[in-house]
Amino acid sequence: MKVGIPTELSDEECRVGATPKTVRRLQKQGFEVFIQEGAGVKANFSDVHYKEAGAMLVDGSEKLFEETDIILKVQPLADAEIEQMHSGQVVLSYLYPAQNQVLLEKLASKGISAIAMDAIPRISRAQKMDVLSSMANIAGYRSVIEGANYFGRFLNGQITAAGKVDPAKVLVIGAGVAGLAAIGTAKSLGAIVRAFDTRMEVAEQIESMGASFLTVDIDEDGSTDSGYSKVMSKAFIDAEMALFKEQAKEVDIIITTAQIPGRAAPKLILDYHVAEMKPGSVIVDLAASTGGNCTLSKHGKVFTTDNGVTIVGKLDQLPAQASQLYGNNLCHLLDDMGKAEDFKIDMEDAVVSRAMVTHDGKVNWPPAPLPVSPQKPKAVEEAVSSVPKPSEAEIAKKKGIRSAITLAIIGAILYFLGMFAPADFMQHLTVFVLSVFIGWQVIWNVSHSLHTPLMAVTNAISGIIIIGGLLQTTNDLSDPITILAFIAILVASINIVGGFLVTHRMLQMFRTK
Ligand code: NAI
Repeated sequence: MKVGIPTELSDEECRVGATPKTVRRLQKQGFEVFIQEGAGVKANFSDVHYKEAGAMLVDGSEKLFEETDIILKVQPLADAEIEQMHSGQVVLSYLYPAQNQVLLEKLASKGISAIAMDAIPRISRAQKMDVLSSMANIAGYRSVIEGANYFGRFLNGQITAAGKVDPAKVLVIGAGVAGLAAIGTAKSLGAIVRAFDTRMEVAEQIESMGASFLTVDIDEDGSTDSGYSKVMSKAFIDAEMALFKEQAKEVDIIITTAQIPGRAAPKLILDYHVAEMKPGSVIVDLAASTGGNCTLSKHGKVFTTDNGVTIVGKLDQLPAQASQLYGNNLCHLLDDMGKAEDFKIDMEDAVVSRAMVTHDGKVNWPPAPLPVSPQKPKAVEEAVSSVPKPSEAEIAKKKGIRSAITLAIIGAILYFLGMFAPADFMQHLTVFVLSVFIGWQVIWNVSHSLHTPLMAVTNAISGIIIIGGLLQTTNDLSDPITILAFIAILVASINIVGGFLVTHRMLQMFRTK
């Protein structure tokens, strides 16, 4: 089978449907690869690179569209491109099917099977093909780099001979794929990061990345079964606006990524928020292409307001990196469709059937809903909570009974031994058994997080053992008591030194550099 990669027609599109690396991968999948001359230039991949990777260079798009079976593209097909295509051809590309009904009809009437890469369903199996996620990850990373560039100060705090520099404060609004990537990048550059999202389930993810999760005093959760956010109530949005007003006074960079699928981006940073910001602050609006989260954003433009706030509505796509990840997503899908040898359009497949927006001369949009609930923690919690849990008093009672039984058994054994063993031995054995029992009871009940302080206590006990051992040692090295005392001193010393080393290493983990 022949795969063709045409040059993207849009001036603004710098990505390409395959990179030299993915060309090699396509060949391993059994495809013959044809690429239009100059297709990768804007992404920094020259024709020489593609040739070295084994692709056949084609002059112009006409022959490429005519002779290949599968087309790999980034932007939706233009009319001129559809004209060059033939019936039965397959195309993998962004298509924005919800907004492009006319395009879908044209493709269907031409008998083209079109896979909208932006309509790959968000299920675990399809993560490796999810171009929205791979591109959002890049956008999140780049938003911080762009913000830092316009900010014109360090992001991390520094203490230098010339003076102290405070770390920059970054607010990330929307903690989906792009938001989390932005949080990770800003944290790694040393900024203080705060984040807000309407979905409470992301709180843990935000905090695990070292950012603080901001909340409003309204009991409403934006989570839905699809994993996306819903439109929030007016009261929630008002509270959110008040929160952002306070934050706008403090933060240096605001990165907005909030989206609601199928709708214009919610307006979250209004004129009065921008007015509150310090001169030199930056807003990077990742939702600029869908109307912007900031009312002042201009798609494709960067400008500075009268009060000195730079608003970035344009982002470098990182075309080489983006093409690589996009190309990988395409290869994964082709893998799933049977590679060259067993290539098949399986309309029973959950992923293919939903992303295949035109097939067999028909438009297949909107697709049948996917019976998938990516996150249903509430249902699980309810199921778990319906099983009655024993109360704390009941647990304590059970523990008490168990300890009493153990003590009774030990007592009975000691009594039995006492009938035969010498009195002196019994005295020492009783002390030994009781200390083992009490020690076990004490340590067993200590939570894991308190094992470090516990180690300090065992160090104190080891100190007592060393003193006891020293008192027992004599000059007679053949004396068994001296040998035992020496072993006790040795083991207790190892315990003390090891305890200090482990404690030191644990403290080091919590120490900031
Ligand atoms: P997105 O780009 O649609 O939205 C970005 C973020 O904006 C979301 O976290 C949303 O909750 C937030 N948001 C919406 N309205 C807001 C408001 N008024 N204020 C503050 N924040 C607001 O989302 P994205 O990044 O595409 O992914 C959303 C979720 O989808 C992920 O967190 C994940 O649960 C799921 N997902 C699943 C995948 C899979 O299973 N294959 C792949 C990628 C995402």
